[in-house]
Amino acid sequence: MRTHAQEGRPRGARGLVPVIQLLAVLVAPAAGAQGATQGATLFTQRCATCHTVGEGDRVGPDLHGVLERREEAWVTRFITSPGAVIDAGDPVATALLEQFNGIRMPDQQLTPEERTALYAFFRDCTQKGKGACKPSPAAKMGTDATAEEIARGRRLFEGTEPLAKGGPACFGCHDVRGVGVAGGGTLGPNLTFAFARMGERGMRPALAKLDTPMMGALYAKAPLEEEEQYALKAFLADASRDGSKPRPDRDFFYLGLVGTLAVLGFMGVAFGATAKRGQP
Ligand code: HEC
Ligand code: HEC
Repeated sequence: MRTHAQEGRPRGARGLVPVIQLLAVLVAPAAGAQGATQGATLFTQRCATCHTVGEGDRVGPDLHGVLERREEAWVTRFITSPGAVIDAGDPVATALLEQFNGIRMPDQQLTPEERTALYAFFRDCTQKGKGACKPSPAAKMGTDATAEEIARGRRLFEGTEPLAKGGPACFGCHDVRGVGVAGGGTLGPNLTFAFARMGERGMRPALAKLDTPMMGALYAKAPLEEEEQYALKAFLADASRDGSKPRPDRDFFYLGLVGTLAVLGFMGVAFGATAKRGQP
C-alpha cells in the first residue's frame, strides 16, 4: 500500500517540478538571499555540531546537495522526527542509521519559516558549489569556545593583540572583572556580566556593529573581523560565567581594603573632631 502511494505520487508531481522550479527561480532572488543568511545562522546553531555542508561527513552525513538527492517533503518529514521515519521502516533512513553507526538524529523543533530559511541556505550552497558554505565564525555560540579562543578574546580586549582593522582596544573604555592590574576604563559600562545580560542573541549583533552613539564613531571605519567578534564574544561569555559564582577577586579585595581604610580614616577624623569638640 505505502509503496503504491509513494510510486504513484511522484509520477503526477514530476510534471509539476519544472514549473515549480521556474517559479522558485522567479520568486526567490530577493527573499532567498536573506533567507539563506538566516538559514546559515540556524545551521550553525542547530545542525553544525553533527553536519557540514560540503566539508564531509561528521556525526551525520554531509548535507551538501541534500535537496537534490532527496525530495523536500522527505527531508521535512525526516528532520521533524527522524526517529518516527526510522521506526516506520523508511529504507533511506534505515540505511543512513546503519551507515552512521546507529546514532539517531534528535528531533528538530523548527517553525516552517526556519525550515524555509534552512532550505534556502542549502540551495544557495549547492548553487555556489562545494566548499562555499563554511560556517560563519561569528555565528558560533559564545559558550562553545575553546580555551584558546577565550584567551585570544582576552588579548584583543586588553589590547595586547591589536585589532586587525586598527580599532581601539575595548579595555580603554570597559572593565571586565579580573582583567589588568588596575582594571579597564570606565567611560563605557562594565562588561563582566554583559553576556549574561544580553545573551547570545543580543551580543552577536552588538559586536558585529558596535554602533552605539559612543562606539559607532570609532568602529564604523574599523569594524571587528568575524574571528575577532567571535573571540571577544567567547571571552565575555566566559567572564560572565566565571563571575557568576562569587570568587575571591584580588582587585575587589584591594578596593575593599582601600575603601575600608578610607571609611575608618573618615570616622577617625569625625570621631576626633567630635571628641575634641566634646572636650571642655
Ligand atoms: C546530534 C547530531 C545531529 C544533529 C544536531 C542534527 N543531525 Fe541531521 N543527522 C544526524 C545523523 C546521525 C543522521 C543520519 C541518520 C540517523 O542516523 O539518524 C542525520 C541525517 C540527516 C539528514 C538526512 C541526510 C541525507 O543524506 O538524506 C538530514 C536532511 C538532516 N540530518 C538534517 C539536519 C538538520 C537540518 C539539522 C539541524 C536543524 C540536523 N540534521 C541536526 C545527526 C544530527
Ligand atoms: C571610546 C570608548 C569605548 C570603546 C573603545 C569601546 N566601547 Fe563599548 N561602549 C562604550 C560606551 C560609552 C557604551 C554605552 C553605550 C554608548 O553610550 O555608546 C558601550 C557599550 C558597549 C556594549 C553594550 C553594553 C550594554 O550593557 O549594553 C558592548 C557589548 C560593548 N560596548 C562592547 C565593546 C567592545 C567589545 C569593545 C572593543 C572592541 C568596545 N566596546 C570598545 C564605549 C566604548
